[in-house]
Amino acid sequence: MKILNFGSLNLDRVYAVEHFVQEGETLSAGRMETHCGGKGLNQSVALARAGASVLHAGCVGEDGGQLIDCLRESGVDVRHVQTVDQPTGHAVIQVLPGGQNGILLFSGANRCLTEQGMEAALAECGAGDWLLLQNETNLTGRLAERGAAQGLKVVFNPSPADSRLNEVDFHHLSCCLFNEIEAASLTGETEPQAILDAFRRQYPSCATVLTLGAGGAWYDDGEQRLHQPAFPAKAVDTTGAGDTFTGYFLAAMMAGDAPGRAMRLASAAAALAVTRKGAANAIPWREEVEKLLV
Ligand code: RIB
Repeated sequence: MKILNFGSLNLDRVYAVEHFVQEGETLSAGRMETHCGGKGLNQSVALARAGASVLHAGCVGEDGGQLIDCLRESGVDVRHVQTVDQPTGHAVIQVLPGGQNGILLFSGANRCLTEQGMEAALAECGAGDWLLLQNETNLTGRLAERGAAQGLKVVFNPSPADSRLNEVDFHHLSCCLFNEIEAASLTGETEPQAILDAFRRQYPSCATVLTLGAGGAWYDDGEQRLHQPAFPAKAVDTTGAGDTFTGYFLAAMMAGDAPGRAMRLASAAAALAVTRKGAANAIPWREEVEKLLV
């Protein structure tokens, strides 16, 4: 069993700042580093480091070689990552001393997915395989529709929450993972129980994971609703923590773990990720995460 992730690949330019830059302000950054990132890439790396078999599909520009290397070094199958005549996607990330971030995204090559590329990657999938999507590429609505028609378990991380979410029919989804900002935009609710109730009423057969940072995470599948507290961690950079959670949670679910065990594993992995700078490079390997659980 494998998971096909049609996802973004970004060069993350990370700036250490004392506060997020304000309108009209010029702010000096204390430090600038470039890291491998993109929600798609981060989630594929987390899945692979957790032990899942991952096929990544996406696009980079000529300047995106290090992103492909990053996936490959984590054990991800990159045969469906194409190099196109557009700049690689990038993110400008401001990180505060406490680890919180603000992200400005440029899609670039991430919006160059084609129907032909989609069909070629989907042709590699069969019964029991999973399809993972985020909202940083084009074709997301089509992919959800095609994946569901093919009998794949379609998982969606509706991030970032913007108007392009309207292209996706959530009835195609088996599982949806979101944070409180995305949840509010989807349901109009802000309180966890109200969010989960509203989503369940609208999409009764879709399992839901709501991540709340230091507030832990909720899982709901209509039969069980459970809360996983966050593991204590001294955060230096929270970039990619949600992606780490997503990858680890899905890897455990694919392996047949109970949701409670998958949530605990994912939470431990995310707690380790926030103690390190960067996105993909901060994602722990399975061994380290298991050590935190004993
Ligand atoms: O989720 C974190 C990611 O969001 C970063 O790596 C950045 O590239 C943006 O896509």
